[in-house]
Amino acid sequence: MDTPNLDHIVSFAKRRGFIFPSSDIYGGLSSSYDYGPLGILLKDNIKALWWKSMVQEREDAVGLDSAIIMQSKIWEVSGHVAGFTDPLVDCKKCKKRFRADHILEAKGIEPNFEPVPQMIGAMCPECGGSLTDIRQFNTMMKTFLGPVEDTASATYLRPETAQGIFVNYKNVMDATRKKLPFGIAQVGKAFRNEITPGNFIFRTREFEQMEMEYFVRPGKDEEMFEYWKDFTMEWFVSLGVKKENLRFYEHPKEKLAHYSKRTVDLEYQFPWGWGELWGVANRTDFDLKQHSQMSGQDLVCRDDQSGETFTPYVIEPALGLTRSLLVFLLNAYEEVEARSGEDDAKHEKEVVLRIDKRLAPIKIAILPLSKKEPLQDIAHDLFKTLSKQWMVQYDETGSIGKRYRRQDEIGTPYCVTVDFDSLEDKCVTVRDRDTMEQERVSVDDLKNYFVDKIEFC
Ligand code: GAP
Repeated sequence: MDTPNLDHIVSFAKRRGFIFPSSDIYGGLSSSYDYGPLGILLKDNIKALWWKSMVQEREDAVGLDSAIIMQSKIWEVSGHVAGFTDPLVDCKKCKKRFRADHILEAKGIEPNFEPVPQMIGAMCPECGGSLTDIRQFNTMMKTFLGPVEDTASATYLRPETAQGIFVNYKNVMDATRKKLPFGIAQVGKAFRNEITPGNFIFRTREFEQMEMEYFVRPGKDEEMFEYWKDFTMEWFVSLGVKKENLRFYEHPKEKLAHYSKRTVDLEYQFPWGWGELWGVANRTDFDLKQHSQMSGQDLVCRDDQSGETFTPYVIEPALGLTRSLLVFLLNAYEEVEARSGEDDAKHEKEVVLRIDKRLAPIKIAILPLSKKEPLQDIAHDLFKTLSKQWMVQYDETGSIGKRYRRQDEIGTPYCVTVDFDSLEDKCVTVRDRDTMEQERVSVDDLKNYFVDKIEFC
């Protein structure tokens, strides 16, 4: 299945206000991005849909928004201070830095740095120079709290949202009286000092995650793992992502993270190859036991009938919000032959963003055919009514063909044109982005018409 060219997506995302390079007027900052007027809407829609399916529609889940900055001890206990590292090599000639595992993967070699590093013979992928020995580089972002930069004030920006959930397990249990199995969901920023960020927003140092820690009885973990694994694929397919561009990758036992009994990634076929999108890990009772031991708090669950206490196991579906935004853009972006009959301008290709209606940043565009006041009045009234419920855009500049094209590009599912007949028949024309079919709808019925068509704002 064809995937769009990444450069086209990058320039499209900037041109239409989805994603800008960060610090742009100062020449940008490597792999750092800002989300523009449409990007923030798309991001919010992804977040809201994820929240709806992970929290709102579930009897067994609640949400949380924990702090980005926590006690540094938490990162020692979780194993991140000792183990959240990437293998780093430097080129002795051009001085560029690389992740050793990425160099090997690019050569088709499965990285295995134990016990003998396999880098012997590998050269710099940029200049062919020789490489230094591997050293482990901790990718947590360090910061200091308060005015004194000493060990006591040092801490980290969280590299995952998960630990905020584990350290709140008791608070949530006490506050909600939830029984197993149940999940705590969280959406928020995470930071990693990635050695080689890149591929646009695929790997950045500041990004957003949407994570669920799902607590189960030991013994039920394998069954729930399968449930969440299937869930990941179904979620993306239900939002229009082509199934042939999705697959599962099972992590080999010897490469599992220190906390994991099993990890499977849902992968997407990006323009440069398959890449992780949504990881599902069986974290066992590792995190709760660690935090229980080190905090002295009982992070357990009590069986109502037997009175027995035990530490729950955790299944963790962990998805990148910003990475999934890239997937939704790539999946929806289509360059099509100019759609005839709507514009006299000469152009060969047009972009149509065939994104699921629920994700579309703008749901409805209001386009008065002329700038004559009576048409503007109807159009402004429609904007006022419809924008109470949906993101609506008013556009009266340029030919109608150009305006349709502008909306198709950003994925607006419906365009409403107000014409001179509207003054007489009190109807407007609704055009569908995908079929380009046009339908005459009464102004009075328009809101209900869209209520039926757009199931989620
Ligand atoms: N709590 C488990 C955890 O953080 P992870 O596989 O390291 O697991 C989960 O991260 C998801 O976060 C990934 O599947 C990916 O979608 C996203 N992610 C991880 N690192 C990222 C980065 N540097 N930039 C953008 N997204 C990232």
